[in-house]
Order: sequence, then C-alpha cells, then structure tokens
Amino acid sequence: MGAKIIDGKAIAAGIRGEIARTVSKLTLEGTRPGLGVVLVGQNPASISYVNSKENDCDEVGIYSHDIRLPANTSESELLHIIDNLNHNPRIHGILVQLPLPKDMNEARIIAAILPEKDVDGFHPANLGRLLLNLDCFIPCTPYGIVKILEIENIPIEGAEIVLVGRSRIVGAPLANLLFRKGYGGNATLTVCHSYTRNIEKVLSRGDIIIVATGNPGLIKGNMIRNGTVVIDVGINRVEDSSRRKGYKLVGDVDFDSVKQVAKAITPVPGGVGPVTRAMLLWNTAVAAQRFHTDRKEV
Ligand code: GUN
Repeated sequence: MGAKIIDGKAIAAGIRGEIARTVSKLTLEGTRPGLGVVLVGQNPASISYVNSKENDCDEVGIYSHDIRLPANTSESELLHIIDNLNHNPRIHGILVQLPLPKDMNEARIIAAILPEKDVDGFHPANLGRLLLNLDCFIPCTPYGIVKILEIENIPIEGAEIVLVGRSRIVGAPLANLLFRKGYGGNATLTVCHSYTRNIEKVLSRGDIIIVATGNPGLIKGNMIRNGTVVIDVGINRVEDSSRRKGYKLVGDVDFDSVKQVAKAITPVPGGVGPVTRAMLLWNTAVAAQRFHTDRKEV
C-alpha cells in the first residue's frame, strides 16, 4: 500500500482562511496588518518566493510593502531601510529574504530588525526565547511542519523523530521546537548531519523523519522503515529540458521509492512550502494583533 500524500496546498488554504478572518477583524478595528518584504539581488528562487509571499498577503488582506534592491546595495543602505521599517507604524512584520549577497553580514542585518517585527523568528532574541520556551515568533518552516503534523493527527509528543539537517533557517530552530517542553515539542529527537555515521541505522528509529538538507533525492525508500511519516523540506531546482522553464522542483526525498514504504509523505512542490508561507502570514497577523492591543492599552 502506498503512502498518503499530504496535501500542503489544502492545509495552507485552510490556515489562510482563518488568517483572513483575523485580518478583517483587525482592519475593521483600525489596524490593518502590514508586512515589509525586502529582497536584495536577483536570485531566481528568492524572486519567486517573494512574489508568492506578496500574492499571499493580497489574498488574506495583509498590506505588503515590497522593497527590491540591487545586488550591489551596501550594508548601511540596507540597515537604513530596516530602520525605516522598524519605525513605520503600518508595518508589523519585516521579512528580509535570505540568502543575502555574500559580502553582507547576514547576522548583523537580522539583528537590526525589531524582535517584535521579526516574523521570520530569526532574530537572536526570538531564537533565544524559543530555546528558553518563552513566547516568541516561531520560524515559519518549523512552525509549518508542526502545523502539518497537528492537522494530520500525527502526534509529536513522545514520537521518535529523526531530523536530517541543522541549518539556521530550518534544522536548528526545528530541533529546539521539537524537543522543548511545550507547543510542538516533547518528541524524542535525533538530529543527523554531514558527520552522522550509519545514517540508515539512525533513520530506522524514526516514527517521523524530517529532511531539510538541500540534497535532491538524499533519502531513498530502502533507507527507511515501513510505516514511517516522511516530511520533505527540500526545494531543489534540477535541470529538466522537457519543462518550459528548463528545471523541475524536487525534494530531499526520492519521492517515488519512499512513497512505497512510508505511511504518509509531503510532496515537493505542494507539501511543506505552501504551509510555510501561510505561517508567515500567521506570524504577521499575530504581530499586528499585539501592536493593536498594546496601542489600546497606552
Ligand atoms: N529563504 C529561504 N527560506 C526563508 C525564510 O523562511 N525566510 C527568509 N527570510 N528567507 C528565506
């Protein structure tokens, strides 16, 4: 029996519906949620992500302020733009699309965003709060993965989860979320990375395997146990001359072989990606809600 293919697009549409209702209520009360989106350079994948994020904002009624800068923008210009967004009362969330051009100090740029507008959850204050199990913005991809498991009724608490990857954007914050004593947590977690020996033995522990490495087709059907839930976070462009664009999107999981043995699997595209985007809108609505409440209390 083949795996259940988890429909990330449908899950995201449901979440967007819920967000649209919150946004409409807040807007009627005088605070229309606003997101500032900053893109530096011409990375084709980043352009496509940023375009999608802006369409998503339109769909749920969030105001989006789009700032596109050339690749040779200086760090001080970018810091100045972030400072303006920090002080702009129409903007409740700020997203600086990563990766930034190589000569920019990404850590310094992220640290310049006000933590209460850091809807990506990448600011050291938010990541520190995540680690300490305090209220914070949960980074969108980890948040989206937890939402998918929640909506699919796949318990995280007590589950054996094997996470492959430890990036700053996905693996590291997701690991902290999954093992913490709180929402999205209480898993028995194993984290694999490029130094892991005998990965197949480690993968066999997993009730749930989450893969976020950026290596197309890394995990194959013969590497996992029957009945595993597989969450594929990878979005890799691989050459495909039969397509109009000249490439196709594939995950870090070899979908065709893994779907034969898994209990459930997220496809690429149409799995984690759309839900990640929905969680950005969610965090923006939450940021606006907090701004609105604080304003009323002043
Ligand atoms: N690049 C890839 N994923 C992300 C993300 O979640 N946020 C930002 N800002 N950049 C990214």
